[in-house]
Amino acid sequence: MTQLYWLHGRGSSLLLECADMGPPLWRYWGPRLEGDMLPGPALGEQGWHFGFHFDPPARLSVFPGGGLGWFGRSALEAHRDGRDFALALQTTGIAQDDNALTFNLVDEIAGIKVELELTLDPATDVLACRTRLTNLGTAPLDVQWLASAVLPLPPAAQRIRYFGGRHAGEFEPREDRLGLATWSRTNRRGLTSHNAFPGAVAAEDGTTEHAGTAYAAQLAWSGNHAQEIEWCDDGGRQWQFGVALAPGELRLEPGASVEAPQVLATCSVEGWQGAARNFHAAARAIISWPGGSRAPRPVHFNTWEGCYFDHDEAALRDLADRAAALGIERFVLDDGWFHRRNDDTSSLGDWWPDAAKYPDGLLPLAQHVTGLGMKFGLWFEPEMVNPDSDLYRAHPEWALQLAGRPLQLSRNQLVLDLTRAEVSNYLFDAIAAMLRAVPVTYIKWDHNRDLVAAGDATGRAAVRRQTLAFYALLARLRSAFPQVEIESCAGGGGRIDMGVLPYVQRFWASDNIDAQSRLEIQRGFLQFLPPEVMGSHIGASPAHTTGRRSSLHFRAAVALQGHLGVELDPAKLDADETARVAQWIAFYKAWRHLLHAEVWGGICEDGLTWHAAGNAEEWVLIVYRCMPSRQRFAPPVRLPFVTPARAYLVQRIGPDRADERERYAASWLARHGLPIPPMHAERAVIYHGKADDL
Ligand code: GLA
Repeated sequence: MTQLYWLHGRGSSLLLECADMGPPLWRYWGPRLEGDMLPGPALGEQGWHFGFHFDPPARLSVFPGGGLGWFGRSALEAHRDGRDFALALQTTGIAQDDNALTFNLVDEIAGIKVELELTLDPATDVLACRTRLTNLGTAPLDVQWLASAVLPLPPAAQRIRYFGGRHAGEFEPREDRLGLATWSRTNRRGLTSHNAFPGAVAAEDGTTEHAGTAYAAQLAWSGNHAQEIEWCDDGGRQWQFGVALAPGELRLEPGASVEAPQVLATCSVEGWQGAARNFHAAARAIISWPGGSRAPRPVHFNTWEGCYFDHDEAALRDLADRAAALGIERFVLDDGWFHRRNDDTSSLGDWWPDAAKYPDGLLPLAQHVTGLGMKFGLWFEPEMVNPDSDLYRAHPEWALQLAGRPLQLSRNQLVLDLTRAEVSNYLFDAIAAMLRAVPVTYIKWDHNRDLVAAGDATGRAAVRRQTLAFYALLARLRSAFPQVEIESCAGGGGRIDMGVLPYVQRFWASDNIDAQSRLEIQRGFLQFLPPEVMGSHIGASPAHTTGRRSSLHFRAAVALQGHLGVELDPAKLDADETARVAQWIAFYKAWRHLLHAEVWGGICEDGLTWHAAGNAEEWVLIVYRCMPSRQRFAPPVRLPFVTPARAYLVQRIGPDRADERERYAASWLARHGLPIPPMHAERAVIYHGKADDL
């Protein structure tokens, strides 16, 4: 008998079909369908039979198995000493509650059990896919590929938008057309990477930023990852995500299980931005804030580009005084504070204060900072060790390495093997000692190199277990110090993903603080994660990573999109600039409740882009002129997010202005657009909109 299983979200639905004991087949994932209508004949009854075709035709299941009639990619590639390579799962149990479907799938011959859980959150429209694999056999099972999720894409979804990049150039948007050839992206750098974000957005022709169907998915994982989109016999495609495993990296002993990292997926008819807002809502349910709920996101000061390794306690006190006077609420002491760390050639691993720079430890500086009313944060790069460190001299075997292979340095450092309990314990104790000695309520957790020769003490590939050990260390610290927030940084944005999100409250989006570069980086970031966890700083001009000069106005207006910080030497600002930075900080504080709500954004004609945040009742809109205008008059900016049939009072605002309110019909703003004044390149205008009954 054929059974149908529906899940409905706010704007999306999914439908699975189970015939007899067969595996659940994908019938639909897409825009919401009304009611649980009968969807025509069962898939099993739809196959045409031509003489040469394999019979019965295999259709895409939630976990397709290879070798027995499914000719696409298998969701599991595993074997026992070369045997048990084929897989045909039978459904042995199905449970459904309002939002979730759970399937138990077993192949007795292969000795494999797969438990799948699909939860479609009606509030966010985000589908969480969980997969657990168990070895039911009597011999170890070597797993080469385990799909975390297998999602169906309809034939019409032929565009795929994804994000590549490099250090200081994260989230560069790319778009490919899907064809018959398999589309795939794999990251083997040992952590999430700057180069390949573990997610993408598929769309139909005609889909725009704000309208049309988009299918987005991301893997919640901070290690090596792969995604693949493969054409299927019905013209649709299967989209698989998983951990990219090195040979031998995942072996399940008899009876053992492994939980694959989750995939979060969403379908929106409000284009790419609709999918992004769904992800933001899902992320907000995952973030664990100290105290249980989000407090207004405090303005940061980060010392890195202000003083780099040049730590002088008296100068840092002065820096803290200046920061506090600007209105800063959290002061983060970056790299350079610990034992003999004067440049990037030494000391990672020796996590105690440098006796020359801080003869009485960090407590006096931290107390000075807290005395000024700011919170105190501290930089660590826990997973790293320099060969020139006391730690490495005592424990050279603690670095990930492969016997007979040279130790390959990157930024003069090696990676510690967190899979060794003694290493994770050492790091926990070293960090905990600092947190106990000093009133630290914030850790900036860095990771400044890729992993190579990443073998454990037995010579086996260790990236997957390293990633899990990293999560375990974060979890241990969070539970011992629940009041401490953590920022995920990896040479800027090398470890931004939903996998680390349960443990952190901020991401450093990029070492590139150049405002023009940041507009693109931040747009990519916001496709997957919400603005309140996106670290965005007002940096110096010229920007240290690009050499480009830009006005303070433009730098601040770009930094306003995320969790605001300042990263420059305030002593180098003149009196006018100092006053203006303080005004921008006050402006952010006045509007952060809207800036960290729903987000919309777009790219217009004539070098304009815009970013809006808030809700349907009230919002802040920032329009950026990125390029000089080529026109006599700027084009009006259409606002697709306003509620039809309402009116809005729109006021141009800024740190030093609040113009007269203008009243607009929503339909005018949506269809014609808001008039924008002429302005020079690399300037911005900001508006506040508030609904006003028609
Ligand atoms: C990385 C980070 C920077 C800074 C330096 C310190 O590059 O992204 O913000 O913390 O390390 O060495």
